[in-house]
Amino acid sequence: MSPPVRVELGARSYDVVIGSGVLDRVASFLASAEICPARILLVRDTGVPEAHAQAITDALRAAGLEAHQTTLDPSERAKSLETAERLLGDTARAGLDRHDAVVALGGGITGDVAGFVASAYRRGVRVVQCPTTLLAMVDASVGGKTGVNLALDDGAERLLKNFVGAFHQPSLVVADVATLASLEPRVLRCGLGECIKHALITGDTDLLDWTTSSLDDALAGDAAVLTELVRKNVAVKARLVARDERETDASGGRALLNLGHTFAHAIETIPSLSPDPEDASLAPLMHGEAVALGLAAATALAVDLGRMTGAERDAVLWLIGRAGLPTSVASLPPSDQVARRMLDDKKTLGGRLRLIVPEGLGRAGVLEGVDAGAVGHAIDAIRGP
Ligand code: GLY
Repeated sequence: MSPPVRVELGARSYDVVIGSGVLDRVASFLASAEICPARILLVRDTGVPEAHAQAITDALRAAGLEAHQTTLDPSERAKSLETAERLLGDTARAGLDRHDAVVALGGGITGDVAGFVASAYRRGVRVVQCPTTLLAMVDASVGGKTGVNLALDDGAERLLKNFVGAFHQPSLVVADVATLASLEPRVLRCGLGECIKHALITGDTDLLDWTTSSLDDALAGDAAVLTELVRKNVAVKARLVARDERETDASGGRALLNLGHTFAHAIETIPSLSPDPEDASLAPLMHGEAVALGLAAATALAVDLGRMTGAERDAVLWLIGRAGLPTSVASLPPSDQVARRMLDDKKTLGGRLRLIVPEGLGRAGVLEGVDAGAVGHAIDAIRGP
């Protein structure tokens, strides 16, 4: 186990515990953080083996807690107000009061929905995040963004990503890299999209160099390398969240974490897109694949705007490809249609696109009101054959 990463937020500060086999010790981490619920509701992602959930509930029961369990289907469609309502009912049926805690065990969708339920139940109870995907470990479980999607049926069926939510910081995050061993390789690779994103915004190239040289070991499941990968990435996110918790810094701050995401959110809501042009059955794109495409589009935009050289863009595209993630996608709708979907992004201000654009390698900045033609070129740059 590496030393925990602390997210410094005054009275709401918390630790992110990272290591292999740490889930079994969740009760002792709660005790050291002086978190003493009498009851917990464990929200288990149906993709997570029941054995992991059992290990946590057994450990909590052995420590004298009353542990209840419910499940959640980790799909974008199920990331809905209906699911949140069902879980709120489960929380009430489990008898949680304001001193108790919701424990999220699973990927990013599970953490987002369970966190949102915890933010709303009796105006807020604690949430403990136990992420089991690389993507949730390095991104979704840290920083307190919680929420669900909003489906609009107004002729053109639209799924507005994370449109209903709350900032609700966890009280503790326990990232057990042993859980990554049961992940499908495709799901593990998705987390690397967020790691590459972090490496492009830290302010130097150290993380990019380390990620490039450690990628193969991470993909091979080396627990020590995965622990270090999660630690380094959580440290990047913790720093930005501590500086700008609510993403109000117009010059960057937490918003830098949205690099590639406005493109990604537009692309991932198109259900027919597949990461492999030879295999349509892999559609729809997973979030990490859409992020990888969003990073590729953002680097194309950066080259177009003279903020990045072609060689720097090629280095990023090489790394994305090496991680087994797509840099182009077949059957992408016309650019103006994709650009219109980008305007649905909740970070749009007054109908103007606000994009994060790389500046060379390891740095990025905010760009307001980006020219539609440049956005169109960036979308065309990821259009596959
Ligand atoms: N995933 C971006 C953020 O937490 O701000």
